[in-house]
Parts: sequence; structure tokens; C-alpha cells
Amino acid sequence: MRLLHDPLPETAVADVSVTPALFDWEWPFFINAMTGGSQQTGRYNEQLATIAAHTGLAMATGSQAVALKEPDLASTFQVVRAADPDGFLISNLGANKTPAQAETAIKMLRANALEIHLNAVQELIMPEGDRDFHWLTNLQRIIAASPVPVIVKEVGFGMTKEALVKLRQAGAKYVDVGGKGGTNFAQIEGVRRQDDDYTALADFGQSTVESLLEAQDSGLTVLATGGVRTPLDVVKALRLGASAVGISGLVLHWLIQEGPAAAEAI
Ligand SMILES: Cc1cc2nc3c(=O)[nH]c(=O)nc-3n(C[C@H](O)[C@H](O)[C@H](O)COP(=O)(O)O)c2cc1C
Repeated sequence: MRLLHDPLPETAVADVSVTPALFDWEWPFFINAMTGGSQQTGRYNEQLATIAAHTGLAMATGSQAVALKEPDLASTFQVVRAADPDGFLISNLGANKTPAQAETAIKMLRANALEIHLNAVQELIMPEGDRDFHWLTNLQRIIAASPVPVIVKEVGFGMTKEALVKLRQAGAKYVDVGGKGGTNFAQIEGVRRQDDDYTALADFGQSTVESLLEAQDSGLTVLATGGVRTPLDVVKALRLGASAVGISGLVLHWLIQEGPAAAEAI
């Protein structure tokens, strides 16, 4: 995707606002779901939340399913609220969890919103992953019962117009199209398990741009994640109708490679 440059803008920087019309967010991008559940990822969560607190960015944690199963691990998520007491924090769970489990996850973080991830491809390529993807009725129940706004998100394989219609009928108001182009779980599994070959899946799914095109006129508040690496990528996603843009892999990469202070400065 390339933006058309207008050589005659007839505007001024002072007239341009990047504040999104979404929740009470200050910035049109946020740190999207990644970590939690072990000592090391708990530390990353704390460092990411400190960056979020210093910059005013919203932040989602990784899936809290592990802490529902092993309550001792809740602290690896609670550190996020401790590091960012007044920030906009987003809980994260899969679509097969009960409304009561969703509420537990929200309370764990004192979260301002809840992400429910759709990750059928990721589950299928993991030998230990789920094999049943009847999610819609459960999603409807979670959305109806949730005390905070629910964002339904893909994790990197994108959305279709038809899925967005179904989500809207299920009561969803916020959808993160989570498209292909960035972190790719098929590739990650391929590297993790040398005995299986997932190269054929490397290009599977709808890109973030394609997903945003599918989401035109969806009647939903649309967010976009997947392959966002530059400020221009953010602007492109906004131009295609996203209210805000999530960044995951890149932030984690900076954090691990450059350290928290450098990651925050970038
Ligand atoms: C290490 C890692 C862990 C992730 N874990 C989760 C998760 O628990 N829940 C979720 O909804 N998405 C998860 N994601 C997906 C991201 O939220 C995001 O949708 C995806 O990485 C695409 O964005 P990116 O290209 O900026 O990385 C994870 C991504 C990474 C890199």
C-alpha cells in the first residue's frame, strides 16, 4: 500500500490531531498482547508496563489462560498494573473461556478492556493445540457479561467481511483485524519443530491491509495489528479505517535487543 502524497495540503501541523476517538487514549497505537506466565515473561511484562506508564500508551498482556490454570502465575500479570497504576490495560484470553474466567482475568489486572483472541491456525499447528473451534456462541456470552469493553482479535491471519458480520451479530463492537505481515505463528512453529514443515503456510491468511479493506463499512470500531513497524505503517492503517494500531513483535524485539530505556526512547 502506498499513500498518495498531496503536494498542496492546505492545512497546518497545529490543525492535525493524532489522538484517536477510542476510549480515552492519547496515542493512535498501543502495545499489543504478548507475554506473561513465567518468571522471564513476567519481567518483560513489568518492563513493557513501565514503558506504557512513561509514554501514556495503552497495553495488552499476553493470554492469561496460564494464570487461570495456575493461580501462582497471576503475579506475572499483576506486575503490569503495579507498574502502570493509572494506565489503560487490556486483559487477554482465548475464545473458549467462560464469562466467569473472563471476569477473573479482568479482575487480575483491574483491566480497562478485554481482548479475546481468535487463533484457530495457531492452535491447529501446535500438536497440543485445540481442535474444536465452535466459538461464536461463547463469544456472545463473554461480550454480554463483560464489565469492560471487549476487543475480538486475530493473532496474525486476518479477518474476512463474513467473520466481521458474524462478530457484529454476536454483539462485538471492537475488532482488531490482526492481519498477516508481521509475527507469523506458522513460521514460528516451523522453526520450533524442525520435524514438521510449515513453509506452505508462510503466506496463509489475509494481510493487515486486506483485512482492513474487508472491514470497510463493517459498523465496528476497527483496530489493526500485524506487521506495523514504522510511523507510516500506523498512518496507512488509520487511513484504511483503523481507530488505533497495535504493535507487538517489534516492541519485544527492541526490549530484548536494546533494553527497556532504549525501547522506550524508540
Ligand atoms: C511473543 C508473542 C506472544 C504473543 N502472544 C499473544 C497472546 O497471548 N494473545 C494474543 O492475543 N496475541 C498474542 N500475540 C500476537 C500479537 O498480539 C499480535 O497480534 C501479532 O504478534 C501481530 O503483531 P506484530 O506483527 O506487531 O507482532 C503474540 C505475539 C508475540 C510476538
